[in-house]
Amino acid sequence: MKTLSPSYRTGDLEKILVSEESISNRVEELAGELSAIYENRDVTVVSILSGALVFTADLLRQLEFPTRLDCLRAESYGNTTESQSPPRITNPLKTDVEGKHVLVVDDILDSGRTLQSIVEYLKQAKPASLKTCVLLDKKERRKVAIDADFVGFEIQDAFVVGYGLDFAERYRNLPCIGILKQAFQEAAAHRV
Ligand code: IMP
Ligand code: MG
Repeated sequence: MKTLSPSYRTGDLEKILVSEESISNRVEELAGELSAIYENRDVTVVSILSGALVFTADLLRQLEFPTRLDCLRAESYGNTTESQSPPRITNPLKTDVEGKHVLVVDDILDSGRTLQSIVEYLKQAKPASLKTCVLLDKKERRKVAIDADFVGFEIQDAFVVGYGLDFAERYRNLPCIGILKQAFQEAAAHRV
């Protein structure tokens, strides 16, 4: 059997869903919307690792209000494309967000279980306000009643990689977002 090696370019993608240029334009728009809402308030941005790392890095640099950055790690998937429930928060916050404005930044809303757990976890810390921002939303896949306050793009029901999103920790470095070829999903699953 021929061994497939993952590429660092877009050749392993079946289809590009969101181009690098579209992402960049939308991130700028989102930053504008957020800056208009938060005005000059001090906001703790909580980035959900590892998927939201790339999105957060780009968004953060365009926010026109004072920020603190903190991170949470929520583990919902092993190395498969199906989520386990409920996700575990494996890396707690470093800062105290009691009485603070909190903006959660995540890569993608799928079943909604991850964001729901994170929102519940953060509410216990009694923030002054709590809003959520996701780059991608797969609305059709929702299993729990949750929507994000800010959404970059609504996408079809497909497993996507790139711009921070991974399959078995690979492809996070692609500058665009696309559907991974089936053969690479299978190859990556066998290699872990
Ligand atoms: P949920 O709990 O089912 O909403 O899943 C959310 C998390 O699963 C996201 O933060 C991602 O890390 C991961 N995820 C969901 N869909 C995809 C996908 O299409 N590609 C890569 N990761 C995904
Ligand atoms: Mg992830």
